[in-house]
Amino acid sequence: MFQLPDNELIIALRHILGDAHVLTSDLEPYGSDYTEDFYFPPAIVVVPADALQISEVLALCNSRNIPVYTRGAGTGLSGGALPVLPGVVLLTKRLNRILQIDLDNFQAIVEPGVINEDFRNAVEELGLFYPPDPASKGSCSLGGNIAHGSGGPKAVKYGTTRDYVLNLEVVLPDGNIIWTGANTVKNSTGLNLTQLMVGSEGLLGVVTKIVFRLIAKPKFDQLFLIPFAEAEDAAKTVNEVLLSGVTPSSLELMESSGVDISSKATQTPFPMRKDATFYMLLELDGDDAAKLFEDAERLLPVLEKCGALDVLHADSADLKEQWWKVRRSIGETVKSASVYKEEDTVVPRAALPELLKAVKEIGTRYGFDSVCYGHAGDGNLHVNILKNNLSDEAWQQDVPKGIREIFEVCKRLGGTISGEHGVGLVQAEYLDIVFSESHMKLMRGIKNTFDPKKILNPGKWL
Ligand code: LAC
Ligand code: ZN
Repeated sequence: MFQLPDNELIIALRHILGDAHVLTSDLEPYGSDYTEDFYFPPAIVVVPADALQISEVLALCNSRNIPVYTRGAGTGLSGGALPVLPGVVLLTKRLNRILQIDLDNFQAIVEPGVINEDFRNAVEELGLFYPPDPASKGSCSLGGNIAHGSGGPKAVKYGTTRDYVLNLEVVLPDGNIIWTGANTVKNSTGLNLTQLMVGSEGLLGVVTKIVFRLIAKPKFDQLFLIPFAEAEDAAKTVNEVLLSGVTPSSLELMESSGVDISSKATQTPFPMRKDATFYMLLELDGDDAAKLFEDAERLLPVLEKCGALDVLHADSADLKEQWWKVRRSIGETVKSASVYKEEDTVVPRAALPELLKAVKEIGTRYGFDSVCYGHAGDGNLHVNILKNNLSDEAWQQDVPKGIREIFEVCKRLGGTISGEHGVGLVQAEYLDIVFSESHMKLMRGIKNTFDPKKILNPGKWL
């Protein structure tokens, strides 16, 4: 069905983009992302400058049945951007401008190649706040965040990328350009194509402009670190904190094995305790400095009752930075410690203790170690499964059965198989756990309406 990229295609692309922006050599960096150790050699990489060029590229590839893989910063954790078939990898990195920060309406218009942290910093300088902060915020692109509906530690109080997108400019595979909504916080006009695009993993169109809603920046934050001896106590504490009426701006859990690997690999000091199996990172924020300490005082008896070994306060900016660095680096550093598979389980938050217990029990049965950590306040637990000394055979044949069992537990508890990393390449084989055939048929129909020739991101899950 698809055509192989050939010289004629390269000439036509060069005509649209200029020679310098059509790459045919040294393409290795675009064949992998942050997902396991996958590599798919890209055939051609194009680096368009704007929506009009993208429109021409897509219309050309559509007419010739050439696969197109849109790629942001390449930090994806489900392999969503990997060019699994020979085709064109479309980089968004030249679409990297913050076009407007609208102080009257608390909105911003940005291009998809802008790095999350650059955007956060730009709006914070003006007293505004863009909360979604994936662990990779220093390197991931906002377009990639849209593609996966990315979350991050702030989601427990502020929601995910999805909650800040008002409107999107999208280039469709036939080259037409649409805006999906309006620049308003309310919109009850028609079907919500904006939210359909969020999390669509490059399968429906190419996002070329994003209108974000912003909020006022909270003036103060306080960070606490709480070690626990028992995993179960740590997990149960999450909901007790939220039920106390205090909503932390972050409520993370980290298994001590992950903390140890991360702090050593990044050479960042961390107050490790031999008797701790899990650490909770709890951040409070707001505009009233005294209220934050009142909230912390209110939480103390709750934490003590739940079995906290201690409650440490980060009393300097350096300490905050160190604890967050250790937290944010867990995923990346655990990967260099062993061959691994990373799962992104999510359940209603009160079911977190049951999920964690099941993950460990399944691991024991299948003989794999795991490092669990993540956004506990959202019921979102990252499970890094380590190969360590497992045989290749057990790794390839048995571990996927264990993963399937973990995902079945998620489903039974009312959750699903990915909270923020997406389906991409690696979760595709487990989709039958959460979607019926009717559900899949509806999604295929939507795909077909947007992309009848299926040139966008083929070889993935839809
Ligand atoms: C994190 C990434 C893996 O939370 O989502 O560290
Ligand atoms: Zn995460």
